[in-house]
Amino acid sequence: MAKTIANPFTPVVGKVPPHIAGREEIIADVEAALAGAGNDPAIISLLVGPRGTGKTALLSYFADTAESSGWVAARVTCVAGMLDDVLIRAQRAARHLVDTRPSRKIKGAGIANVVSFELEDSPIEPANWRSKMDDILDALAEQGTGLLVTIDEVNPSIEEMTTLVAAFQHFLDEGKRVALIMAGLPYAVTSLLSGKSTSFLRRAARYELQALNDYEVEEALIRTMRDGGKSFEPDALDAAVKAIKGFPFMLQLVGYRTWRMAGNSEVVDVSVVNDAAGIARKELDRRVYEAIWFELSEADKSFLLAMAKDSGATRQMDLPGRLDKPSGHVSKYKKRLLQQGVIQERSKGILNFCLPGFKEYFMERIAEEREL
Ligand SMILES: Nc1ncnc2c1ncn2[C@@H]1O[C@H](COP(=O)(O)OP(=O)(O)O)[C@@H](O)[C@H]1O
Ligand SMILES: [Mg+2]
Repeated sequence: MAKTIANPFTPVVGKVPPHIAGREEIIADVEAALAGAGNDPAIISLLVGPRGTGKTALLSYFADTAESSGWVAARVTCVAGMLDDVLIRAQRAARHLVDTRPSRKIKGAGIANVVSFELEDSPIEPANWRSKMDDILDALAEQGTGLLVTIDEVNPSIEEMTTLVAAFQHFLDEGKRVALIMAGLPYAVTSLLSGKSTSFLRRAARYELQALNDYEVEEALIRTMRDGGKSFEPDALDAAVKAIKGFPFMLQLVGYRTWRMAGNSEVVDVSVVNDAAGIARKELDRRVYEAIWFELSEADKSFLLAMAKDSGATRQMDLPGRLDKPSGHVSKYKKRLLQQGVIQERSKGILNFCLPGFKEYFMERIAEEREL
């Protein structure tokens, strides 16, 4: 019986792909930091990038690698209640450590007591949180391990971030074995760093998840396809790379559809890739871009339409004239769209659409809407 091979691509948000395209620098830095003595800047890292660039997947990858090299990892999303969540996860992981390593059970007070305390009514007091974390960290240290906390979708308006960051500053100053890796949209991270109470984070290593290079896309496509028992004809590979435009989510969508549509053939030709890319494009529209579209207000749309007049970047100073609005209006809507991760401001006053193909999608939807 022919063995069945599953589709090796992972077009699912947050899923760690079997072959990570690019990102070598950040992976090497973070792994070195986890292996090191705690004085490496990457022990506190920020991953910054628009939607679909692989922030959640990388966080998850780091938590997995940390765990397999003996760290305890607590993975949370930045929402109210996050501190409780970190505590619960750290306790649970610590308890597991005791259960699974009976031979290394510690002397004296130790972890058994630490992991048994109950949580009090929320919201937890900052000082209280820190001291509970101190206990867990001490107990973990006795087991020869440390704690990695990953925080996804960083949101500067969540007050608990302040408590967490302040506590981490203390943990590091006290030489505790901790690591903190956070991910967020560019705007969220920038405003987090500008906050007074979180300014310590300016010391963190900051990684911008840019578009992938074509050769990185190519390599990941070839390897993943090989895992699935198939390969590309050269022009098919070129067509796939062109359709992906360096966008990690699109890599998975195109790869997934291509593998599936190739059916039983072991070598994929260009016509399959072209059909697959067409479907992948629609999926990207439906799964990522449609959600963004429905969040746009009329004023957001006018703003984007005014930006779309430029074939490349837009100067903010051109917008009041085009929109016939005061500059305060422009600043307000710029901020909204930055927050939503639709546009980027790479240098002051220079604005860009930040998701590949979103501008085209936006123009199609506008045309449809205006026809109605
Ligand atoms: N470096 C990469 N190489 C290949 N695929 C990736 C890479 N990073 C992410 N992906 C894939 O892209 C998709 C989006 O990743 P995700 O981590 O959810 O992005 P984000 O959190 O930035 O929105 C997922 O399907 C994931 O498997
Ligand atoms: Mg994510």
